[in-house]
Amino acid sequence: TRTPVNVTVTGAAGQIGYALLFRIASGQLLGADVPVRLRLLEIPQGLKAAEGTAMELDDCAFPLLRGIDITDDPDTGFDGANVALLVGARPRTKGMERGDLLEANGGIFKPQGKAINDHAADDIKVLVVGNPANTNALIAQAAAPDVPGERFTAMTRLDHNRALSQLAARTGVPVSEIRRLTIWGNHSATQYPDVFHAEIAGKNAAEVVDDRTWLADTFIPTVAKRGAAIIEARGASSAASAANAAIDHVHTWVNGTAEGDWTSMGIPSDGSYGVAEGLISSFPVTCKDGVYKIVQGLDINEFSRTRIDASVKELEEEREAVRALGLI
Ligand code: NAI
Repeated sequence: TRTPVNVTVTGAAGQIGYALLFRIASGQLLGADVPVRLRLLEIPQGLKAAEGTAMELDDCAFPLLRGIDITDDPDTGFDGANVALLVGARPRTKGMERGDLLEANGGIFKPQGKAINDHAADDIKVLVVGNPANTNALIAQAAAPDVPGERFTAMTRLDHNRALSQLAARTGVPVSEIRRLTIWGNHSATQYPDVFHAEIAGKNAAEVVDDRTWLADTFIPTVAKRGAAIIEARGASSAASAANAAIDHVHTWVNGTAEGDWTSMGIPSDGSYGVAEGLISSFPVTCKDGVYKIVQGLDINEFSRTRIDASVKELEEEREAVRALGLI
């Protein structure tokens, strides 16, 4: 029998945590034959609710679930972790400036990065979901100098999935017919969903759509502002779709992309496509044997270039801000 994989989830008592944990325990994160042990990391105020969720997890009698630990101590929470999903973060509250937000999140992601550095398993893979995800990932990475930098990733898969769905609706094809879509840049309003290399049933997506006005004025803003639209409609932020994207991100990283397709992940830049080295920015990637690679050689047209540059500029500003705060 296989040794269970240790999966640590922070913010386990939150909305996304509730939508995520049951799917991990049922085998959807890593595969239907991989046993898992869950570590739920919360702040003291969240422990009781996390215990309640753990009771429900027990009551599902998931055959793959080999144990649940609940803690408010990062060192314990990341001990032996093979996969870490960093979901818990400090949301922006009314009147909060960006600097305050980054500083508050630095107080979370810096110690968590250090705990990962000191206690996680050698094969640790980290996905940051908590916003601002890219820069929180950068902070955690900087606090973990002994962990290979490429193990720190940020989630843009929800944006990727949203773009797939919008493009499918517009062109009247099922999402399963669309390949090679890319989200570039930051998981923020400046992100750039790129259809110029995407294919719809084997044809170039930009040619199928053949409407740059729709791309610029409808598609891109709809994808980028979808989070706000969900809050407006649901009265609460997207949780199930965010949890679904986290499952997709890790599943693809571990189990690979389909032949001929790619996905989008926020990953440390190696300088490809003019994205400053070290920034955690979204790229088109293929995955194989637990390793991702940036898709190389794509032609970036003028329309794409200005939008990628704008999002990367925002990431550079965020990096400058956390540097000035001594967080990296
Ligand atoms: P939530 O507020 O329902 O839950 C957050 C949980 O994190 C709370 O239970 C809180 O006690 C816990 N927490 C706070 N600080 C912690 C710490 N230091 N250690 C451990 N746990 C801690 O929020 P929700 O809806 O679950 O969202 C979580 C985060 O995910 C937010 O930052 C949200 O903006 C982000 N998000 C990111 C998306 C993406 O595409 N990258 C999509 C949707 C949400």
